[in-house]
Amino acid sequence: MRPKLVVGNWKMNGSLAANADLLAGIVAGLGNAKAACAVCAPAPYLFQCQQLLAGTPVAWGAQDVSEHASGAYTGEASAAMLADFACRYVIVGHSERRAYHGESNELVARKTVAALKAGLTPIVCVGETLGQREAGQTAAVVGAQLAAVLELLDAAQAKGIVVAYEPVWAIGTGKTATPDMAQEVHAQLRAQLKERIGGAAEEINILYGGSMKPDNAADLMSRQDIDGGLIGGASLKAADFLAIIKAA
Ligand code: G3H
Repeated sequence: MRPKLVVGNWKMNGSLAANADLLAGIVAGLGNAKAACAVCAPAPYLFQCQQLLAGTPVAWGAQDVSEHASGAYTGEASAAMLADFACRYVIVGHSERRAYHGESNELVARKTVAALKAGLTPIVCVGETLGQREAGQTAAVVGAQLAAVLELLDAAQAKGIVVAYEPVWAIGTGKTATPDMAQEVHAQLRAQLKERIGGAAEEINILYGGSMKPDNAADLMSRQDIDGGLIGGASLKAADFLAIIKAA
Protein backbone atom coordinates (compact mmCIF):
# COMPACT_ATOMS: atom_id res chain seq x y z
CA MET A 1 0.00 0.00 0.00
CA ARG A 2 1.30 3.43 -0.93
CA PRO A 3 1.15 5.87 2.00
CA LYS A 4 -1.25 8.66 1.07
CA LEU A 5 -0.11 12.26 0.67
CA VAL A 6 -2.23 15.40 1.08
CA VAL A 7 -0.69 18.69 -0.07
CA GLY A 8 -2.17 22.15 0.37
CA ASN A 9 -1.53 24.62 -2.43
CA TRP A 10 -2.14 28.04 -0.91
CA LYS A 11 -1.73 29.72 -4.30
CA MET A 12 -1.35 33.52 -3.81
CA ASN A 13 -3.08 33.66 -0.44
CA GLY A 14 -1.89 34.31 3.09
CA SER A 15 -0.12 36.76 5.36
CA LEU A 16 2.28 36.31 8.24
CA ALA A 17 -0.57 36.48 10.71
CA ALA A 18 -3.01 34.27 8.79
CA ASN A 19 -0.33 31.67 8.04
CA ALA A 20 0.68 31.48 11.69
CA ASP A 21 -2.93 30.76 12.69
CA LEU A 22 -3.45 28.25 9.91
CA LEU A 23 -0.24 26.34 10.58
CA ALA A 24 -0.82 26.27 14.34
CA GLY A 25 -4.31 24.90 13.72
CA ILE A 26 -3.03 22.19 11.38
CA VAL A 27 -0.24 21.09 13.69
CA ALA A 28 -2.51 21.09 16.74
CA GLY A 29 -5.24 19.10 15.02
CA LEU A 30 -3.18 16.52 13.19
CA GLY A 31 -3.31 13.92 15.95
CA ASN A 32 -2.18 10.54 14.67
CA ALA A 33 -3.32 11.04 11.06
CA LYS A 34 -1.84 8.33 8.86
CA ALA A 35 -1.40 10.34 5.67
CA ALA A 36 1.68 12.42 5.03
CA CYS A 37 0.92 16.10 4.55
CA ALA A 38 2.54 19.29 3.35
CA VAL A 39 1.72 22.90 2.51
CA CYS A 40 3.03 24.73 -0.56
CA ALA A 41 3.29 28.40 0.36
CA PRO A 42 4.08 31.55 -1.64
CA ALA A 43 7.88 31.97 -1.77
CA PRO A 44 8.05 34.90 0.71
CA TYR A 45 6.56 32.66 3.41
CA LEU A 46 8.85 29.66 3.06
CA PHE A 47 11.08 30.91 5.85
CA GLN A 48 8.04 31.24 8.09
CA CYS A 49 6.99 27.68 7.22
CA GLN A 50 10.46 26.45 8.08
CA GLN A 51 10.36 28.29 11.41
CA LEU A 52 6.90 27.04 12.37
CA LEU A 53 6.91 23.52 10.91
CA ALA A 54 10.42 22.17 11.50
CA GLY A 55 10.12 19.22 13.84
CA THR A 56 6.40 18.72 13.12
CA PRO A 57 4.91 16.06 10.79
CA VAL A 58 3.90 18.79 8.32
CA ALA A 59 6.33 19.27 5.42
CA TRP A 60 6.43 22.39 3.26
CA GLY A 61 7.21 23.34 -0.28
CA ALA A 62 7.00 25.95 -3.00
CA GLN A 63 4.57 26.47 -5.87
CA ASP A 64 7.06 26.97 -8.70
CA VAL A 65 10.79 26.85 -9.42
CA SER A 66 13.13 28.19 -12.06
CA GLU A 67 14.59 25.83 -14.61
CA HIS A 68 17.91 27.67 -14.14
CA ALA A 69 20.48 27.21 -11.38
CA SER A 70 21.35 30.89 -10.93
CA GLY A 71 21.93 34.10 -12.86
CA ALA A 72 20.11 37.01 -14.44
CA TYR A 73 16.52 35.74 -14.15
CA THR A 74 14.70 38.52 -12.33
CA GLY A 75 11.87 37.33 -10.18
CA GLU A 76 12.77 33.66 -10.27
CA ALA A 77 13.79 31.35 -7.41
CA SER A 78 16.13 28.42 -7.98
CA ALA A 79 15.67 24.92 -6.65
CA ALA A 80 18.77 25.36 -4.48
CA MET A 81 17.17 28.43 -2.88
CA LEU A 82 14.05 26.43 -2.06
CA ALA A 83 16.25 23.68 -0.63
CA ASP A 84 17.94 26.34 1.54
CA PHE A 85 14.60 26.73 3.29
CA ALA A 86 14.31 22.95 3.69
CA CYS A 87 11.44 22.62 1.24
CA ARG A 88 10.63 18.99 0.56
CA TYR A 89 8.26 19.62 -2.34
CA VAL A 90 7.77 21.97 -5.24
CA ILE A 91 4.74 22.09 -7.52
CA VAL A 92 5.67 22.22 -11.21
CA GLY A 93 3.37 22.73 -14.18
CA HIS A 94 0.30 23.80 -12.28
CA SER A 95 -2.40 24.66 -14.81
CA GLU A 96 -2.38 28.27 -13.60
CA ARG A 97 1.33 28.48 -14.52
CA ARG A 98 0.63 26.84 -17.86
CA ALA A 99 -2.32 29.15 -18.59
CA TYR A 100 -1.14 32.51 -17.24
CA HIS A 101 2.61 32.17 -17.73
CA GLY A 102 2.71 30.16 -20.93
CA GLU A 103 4.55 27.20 -19.45
CA SER A 104 5.01 24.47 -22.03
CA ASN A 105 5.33 20.74 -21.41
CA GLU A 106 9.03 21.05 -22.17
CA LEU A 107 9.60 23.89 -19.67
CA VAL A 108 7.72 21.93 -17.01
CA ALA A 109 10.02 19.00 -17.73
CA ARG A 110 13.13 21.15 -17.30
CA LYS A 111 11.79 22.53 -14.02
CA THR A 112 11.20 18.98 -12.85
CA VAL A 113 14.83 18.13 -13.56
CA ALA A 114 16.03 21.25 -11.72
CA ALA A 115 13.96 20.32 -8.67
CA LEU A 116 15.23 16.74 -8.58
CA LYS A 117 18.84 17.85 -8.91
CA ALA A 118 18.43 19.98 -5.76
CA GLY A 119 16.93 17.08 -3.83
CA LEU A 120 13.35 18.36 -3.93
CA THR A 121 10.33 16.21 -4.76
CA PRO A 122 8.55 17.78 -7.73
CA ILE A 123 4.76 17.50 -7.79
CA VAL A 124 4.17 17.38 -11.53
CA CYS A 125 0.70 18.63 -12.46
CA VAL A 126 -1.18 17.42 -15.51
CA GLY A 127 -4.76 17.95 -16.58
CA GLU A 128 -7.10 18.70 -19.43
CA THR A 129 -9.37 21.70 -20.06
CA LEU A 130 -13.12 21.30 -20.40
CA GLY A 131 -12.87 21.70 -24.16
CA GLN A 132 -10.25 18.99 -24.36
CA ARG A 133 -12.36 16.62 -22.25
CA GLU A 134 -15.43 17.27 -24.36
CA ALA A 135 -13.40 16.63 -27.50
CA GLY A 136 -12.29 13.26 -26.12
CA GLN A 137 -8.68 14.39 -25.79
CA THR A 138 -8.13 13.82 -22.07
CA ALA A 139 -5.94 10.73 -22.41
CA ALA A 140 -3.82 12.30 -25.15
CA VAL A 141 -3.35 15.62 -23.32
CA VAL A 142 -2.33 14.24 -19.92
CA GLY A 143 -0.32 11.51 -21.63
CA ALA A 144 1.70 14.09 -23.55
CA GLN A 145 2.19 16.25 -20.43
CA LEU A 146 3.63 13.32 -18.47
CA ALA A 147 5.60 11.97 -21.43
CA ALA A 148 7.46 15.27 -21.86
CA VAL A 149 8.61 15.05 -18.24
CA LEU A 150 9.55 11.37 -18.35
CA GLU A 151 11.56 11.96 -21.50
CA LEU A 152 14.07 14.13 -19.60
CA LEU A 153 14.40 11.87 -16.55
CA ASP A 154 16.50 8.77 -16.05
CA ALA A 155 14.78 5.89 -14.27
CA ALA A 156 16.15 6.84 -10.83
CA GLN A 157 14.89 10.41 -11.25
CA ALA A 158 11.49 9.26 -12.50
CA LYS A 159 11.04 7.28 -9.29
CA GLY A 160 11.40 10.52 -7.32
CA ILE A 161 8.41 12.44 -8.66
CA VAL A 162 4.86 12.87 -7.42
CA VAL A 163 2.18 13.32 -10.10
CA ALA A 164 -0.98 15.38 -9.62
CA TYR A 165 -3.96 14.97 -11.93
CA GLU A 166 -5.88 18.23 -11.91
CA PRO A 167 -8.64 18.57 -14.48
CA VAL A 168 -8.57 22.29 -15.24
CA TRP A 169 -12.37 22.52 -15.30
CA ALA A 170 -12.51 21.26 -11.70
CA ILE A 171 -10.05 23.75 -10.21
CA GLY A 172 -11.69 26.30 -7.96
CA THR A 173 -15.04 25.72 -9.64
CA GLY A 174 -16.75 23.45 -7.13
CA LYS A 175 -17.05 20.87 -9.94
CA THR A 176 -15.18 17.70 -9.03
CA ALA A 177 -14.30 14.82 -11.29
CA THR A 178 -16.27 11.80 -10.14
CA PRO A 179 -14.15 9.12 -8.48
CA ASP A 180 -14.63 6.97 -11.61
CA MET A 181 -13.49 9.74 -13.95
CA ALA A 182 -10.44 10.49 -11.83
CA GLN A 183 -9.55 6.82 -11.32
CA GLU A 184 -9.61 6.24 -15.07
CA VAL A 185 -7.01 8.96 -15.66
CA HIS A 186 -4.92 7.94 -12.64
CA ALA A 187 -4.79 4.34 -13.90
CA GLN A 188 -3.63 5.61 -17.29
CA LEU A 189 -0.89 7.70 -15.65
CA ARG A 190 0.22 4.73 -13.54
CA ALA A 191 0.41 2.55 -16.66
CA GLN A 192 2.53 5.21 -18.37
CA LEU A 193 4.87 5.35 -15.36
CA LYS A 194 5.05 1.54 -15.38
CA GLU A 195 6.21 1.52 -18.98
CA ARG A 196 9.08 3.76 -17.96
CA ILE A 197 10.12 2.42 -14.53
CA GLY A 198 8.36 -0.92 -14.17
CA GLY A 199 7.13 -2.03 -10.76
CA ALA A 200 8.51 1.09 -9.06
CA ALA A 201 5.50 2.90 -10.52
CA GLU A 202 3.46 1.29 -7.76
CA GLU A 203 5.39 3.44 -5.25
CA ILE A 204 4.62 6.76 -6.92
CA ASN A 205 1.95 8.97 -5.40
CA ILE A 206 -0.60 10.17 -7.94
CA LEU A 207 -2.67 12.92 -6.32
CA TYR A 208 -6.04 14.25 -7.42
CA GLY A 209 -6.69 18.00 -7.38
CA GLY A 210 -9.76 20.03 -8.28
CA SER A 211 -12.38 21.03 -5.72
CA MET A 212 -11.43 18.26 -3.31
CA LYS A 213 -13.30 19.00 -0.07
CA PRO A 214 -14.01 17.23 3.21
CA ASP A 215 -17.24 15.79 1.80
CA ASN A 216 -15.80 14.18 -1.34
CA ALA A 217 -12.23 13.41 -0.25
CA ALA A 218 -12.79 9.95 1.24
CA ASP A 219 -14.66 8.72 -1.82
CA LEU A 220 -12.01 9.98 -4.23
CA MET A 221 -9.11 8.65 -2.20
CA SER A 222 -10.70 5.23 -1.76
CA ARG A 223 -9.97 4.47 -5.41
CA GLN A 224 -7.06 2.24 -6.24
CA ASP A 225 -4.82 4.77 -7.96
CA ILE A 226 -5.83 7.97 -6.14
CA ASP A 227 -3.09 8.34 -3.57
CA GLY A 228 -3.98 11.66 -2.00
CA GLY A 229 -4.89 15.19 -2.93
CA LEU A 230 -3.53 18.54 -4.04
CA ILE A 231 -5.88 20.90 -2.30
CA GLY A 232 -6.43 24.56 -3.16
CA GLY A 233 -9.30 26.43 -1.50
CA ALA A 234 -9.94 23.85 1.22
CA SER A 235 -6.30 24.00 2.36
CA LEU A 236 -6.79 27.56 3.62
CA LYS A 237 -8.99 26.51 6.55
CA ALA A 238 -7.35 24.28 9.14
CA ALA A 239 -10.56 22.36 9.87
CA ASP A 240 -11.19 21.53 6.20
CA PHE A 241 -7.58 20.65 5.46
CA LEU A 242 -7.41 18.42 8.53
CA ALA A 243 -10.65 16.70 7.58
CA ILE A 244 -9.19 15.85 4.15
CA ILE A 245 -5.93 14.59 5.66
CA LYS A 246 -7.91 12.37 8.00
CA ALA A 247 -10.09 11.10 5.16
CA ALA A 248 -7.00 9.88 3.31
O1 G3H B 1 -3.46 22.95 -6.71
C1 G3H B 1 -4.65 22.84 -6.36
C2 G3H B 1 -5.71 22.84 -7.31
O2 G3H B 1 -5.55 23.81 -8.28
C3 G3H B 1 -7.08 22.68 -6.77
O3 G3H B 1 -7.64 23.88 -6.33
O4 G3H B 1 -9.01 22.78 -4.57
O5 G3H B 1 -9.29 25.21 -5.10
O6 G3H B 1 -10.05 23.46 -6.72
P1 G3H B 1 -9.08 23.85 -5.65
